[in-house]
Amino acid sequence: MIILAIETSCDETSAAVMENGTKVLSNVVASQTEFHKKYGGIVPEIASRKHIEVINPVIAEALEKAGKKFKDLDAVAVTYGPGLVGSLLVGLCAAKAIAWSLKIPLIGVNHLEGHIYANFLNSHLPSPISLFPFICLIVSGGHTLIVEVKDHGKYKTLGRTRDDAAGEAFDKVARFLNLGYPGGPIIDQLAKEGDPHAVEFKRPMIEKEFGYDFSFSGIKTAVVNYVTRNASPATIPPIPDVVASFQQAVVETLVEKTVQAALNHKIKTVALAGGVSANSALRKHLTERGGGEGLRVLIPPLEYTTDNAAMIACAGYYKSISGDLSALDLKPVASLKL
Ligand code: KG4
Ligand code: ZN
Repeated sequence: MIILAIETSCDETSAAVMENGTKVLSNVVASQTEFHKKYGGIVPEIASRKHIEVINPVIAEALEKAGKKFKDLDAVAVTYGPGLVGSLLVGLCAAKAIAWSLKIPLIGVNHLEGHIYANFLNSHLPSPISLFPFICLIVSGGHTLIVEVKDHGKYKTLGRTRDDAAGEAFDKVARFLNLGYPGGPIIDQLAKEGDPHAVEFKRPMIEKEFGYDFSFSGIKTAVVNYVTRNASPATIPPIPDVVASFQQAVVETLVEKTVQAALNHKIKTVALAGGVSANSALRKHLTERGGGEGLRVLIPPLEYTTDNAAMIACAGYYKSISGDLSALDLKPVASLKL
């Protein structure tokens, strides 16, 4: 079965072609970062316009790289939420037009579900069915949640952020420190030169009473206050130390709650998903801490951590074989829940 998948929920225009839910034949990602950089964040209006400009060439490139033509397609999968409505609409319109004109099924995919399925794009893993149930930490620019994945399409959210997403905190701290955009990868690199124990930022909401909920807006403010209070270069630790300490506090909090969720629910596997799962410290810490507790730790391949259509193709494949197809009047849902 050949699926074309389209992902345009935020600022990446992506198309992928996948065979039988396992083999990624192509995964083209056109990033708009350059256009949003000068604003220090994503401008929704610019995002939708850029998607319109590149959606057709991106789909054409994905087909060409896969060595396929439109006539070879068996289904089209597309992200319909959560995300920016204007951005989602562009991918949805393209997917609907292809499904309608080729008379093939349309499969609407939840973006967060796509991130979870990035874990199944790891060629070293056995079939997904042997991995259920697992605890998945989804950490991106817009979301931070801990989910129990019971089976294909069966999710139970155990906790979520009460304010900022983890990626949002990375981006805001980087913006405050004038490090550039997006902040996550920049802080990840810079933190490698710093001491993660230079500043002891409080681990937010780590106490048991908060369960698996998170809060990252306080730690962002703590960084701002720390740097402002110690504004003299003679007293402030170097910026690599500050960002390494910030990253350490965020990573420890994410990892601790994820591991506790697995232990408390007697689940033997934990997985990472979402853009922040590209973070080297998070990948390392979860592997070590989870491994230390005897858990199997799934880390998605780096190329499938940030937004991409291959993960949507994989999620779409499993939806299609369970008959979970969408009507051609599928609408974008900005705050779609898992
Ligand atoms: O999943 P994603 O591509 O888009 C959303 O669905 O939000 O995630 C983007 C987020 C941004 O906040 C970005 O700063 C963060 O993921 N990110 C990282 C890293 N790479 C991307 N955060 C920390 N370390 C990284 N290496
Ligand atoms: Zn995402």
